[in-house]
Amino acid sequence: MTTIQKMLENNRRWAREIRQDDPDFFRRLARAQNPEVLWIGCSDSRVGPERLVSLPMGSIFVHRNIANVFALNDLNCLAVLEYAVDELKVPNVIVCGHYGCGGIQAALEHSGIQPVDLWIDQVRMVFQKHREELLALDREACSRRLAELNVYAQVHNLCSNTIVREAWKRGQELNILGVIYDIHDGLLKPLGSEIRSLEDWQAFHEKIGLQP
Ligand code: CO
Repeated sequence: MTTIQKMLENNRRWAREIRQDDPDFFRRLARAQNPEVLWIGCSDSRVGPERLVSLPMGSIFVHRNIANVFALNDLNCLAVLEYAVDELKVPNVIVCGHYGCGGIQAALEHSGIQPVDLWIDQVRMVFQKHREELLALDREACSRRLAELNVYAQVHNLCSNTIVREAWKRGQELNILGVIYDIHDGLLKPLGSEIRSLEDWQAFHEKIGLQP
């Protein structure tokens, strides 16, 4: 049996078992989605969000790309954010980076004009901003620290965006948190505290030394 055939078989078994346990499950989910969180994470196959936080299907609106970048010039990122915040009224946003990230490693090791290289230029910009601190570290520590700094930078990008700022201005609940996942022990570590308002964001960027 090929991998794809195996996947299709797994799917049929999964759907059958769900229907046996909860006959109304698919009818309920089909009506509408009401996710509690927008998850911006890395495409890495080891960091799928539902499993990491044990939330059921329908709970997480997901955007993933290489090195969990929230790029302000990327229509895909912006469309996901707009839909999540303005339409679905998702009250929480998690930006999740991870140690051992191939995108972070690539940003440290080479540059070029292939699509991946161009995409992770955004991580290189984070490296440049914190060059002094990072160059003082050994290879492993540097990669781990850049993964953390990249999460801060993406949280910063997110909070700089009009969609988020307007939501806060009109009093919509929107809590934003950066976290880092350790693939060695399965644990998520919060980076800073939840940003829930323009005031929180002000305090956040003062703390990490970035301008709003
Ligand atoms: Co990664």
